[in-house]
Amino acid sequence: MKFTGFLFPAVVLGAACPYGTFKPEDPTDTRGVCPMLNALSNHGFLPRNGRNINENQTVNALNEALNLDHDFGRFLFTAGRLSNPKPNATTFDLDHLDRHNLFEHDGSLSRQDAHFGQWSRFNQTVWNWTMQYYTGDVLDVQMVANSRAQRHMRSNLTDPAYSLSEVGYQFSVAENAAILSILGDKVTQTCPKKFADFLFTREELPYSIGWKKPDVPISLTDLLRTYHDIEQATAFPPRPAHDNSTEIFN
Ligand code: HEM
Repeated sequence: MKFTGFLFPAVVLGAACPYGTFKPEDPTDTRGVCPMLNALSNHGFLPRNGRNINENQTVNALNEALNLDHDFGRFLFTAGRLSNPKPNATTFDLDHLDRHNLFEHDGSLSRQDAHFGQWSRFNQTVWNWTMQYYTGDVLDVQMVANSRAQRHMRSNLTDPAYSLSEVGYQFSVAENAAILSILGDKVTQTCPKKFADFLFTREELPYSIGWKKPDVPISLTDLLRTYHDIEQATAFPPRPAHDNSTEIFN
């Protein structure tokens, strides 16, 4: 499965301030499906109103806040730009990312499926389902693979409109890889659970509980390593054993 196979995809900080000050969104601001981009706007790395975000702002924000290298930033910006419904747009708003079944997909970790109602903002019930599979204090490849499989399995069983395109699949695996390789540690492919919970529930970077910007730049290649390891670790339940009592098509 190739994450690169589709066309995807700052604020200058004062010397005294090691990071953008956190301020929750105002009612007139725009936020969307991505907990990390919402957090970057809440810190002022991206425009606080969440609108008209251009490539330079995205690349600089991802670099300043998270140490993503510039190529990776440009790659990710493409997804933002393509989600703008205006043809040939050079900017995006955070809620453009909410367009269902473009990049946004069913089986998200912290959002309910569009079929059930509001699908773009944090949902504690859905996040609790995910967290049940985070069985240790430090998330690893197997835990995120299990929780991702659980979300898609649950959606497939309960949502009559459930679907997952190829691009949706790639985003789903990539987002889980991002938790480990960007919010966590790209070398060990782990992330303290409390950092993920803090980011998702508050849309704030977890500086206050010990998180810091990674020292070493993060590239798309780094993300892809974790992406492939999550794919390898993903196991949906096997088909049930043959049982004549349940045969209906013979
Ligand atoms: C320009 C950059 C980015 C774009 C365009 C983008 C886009 C998106 C989109 C469209 C979704 C929704 C997918 C869904 O339906 O669940 C999403 C979710 C997500 N994004 Fe981002 N993203 C970006 C950067 C990042 C970064 C740097 C991280 C690093 C941790 C990140 C982490 C996540 C996570 C963990 C989710 C899953 C949310 C959930 O399943 O509830 N994103 N992003």
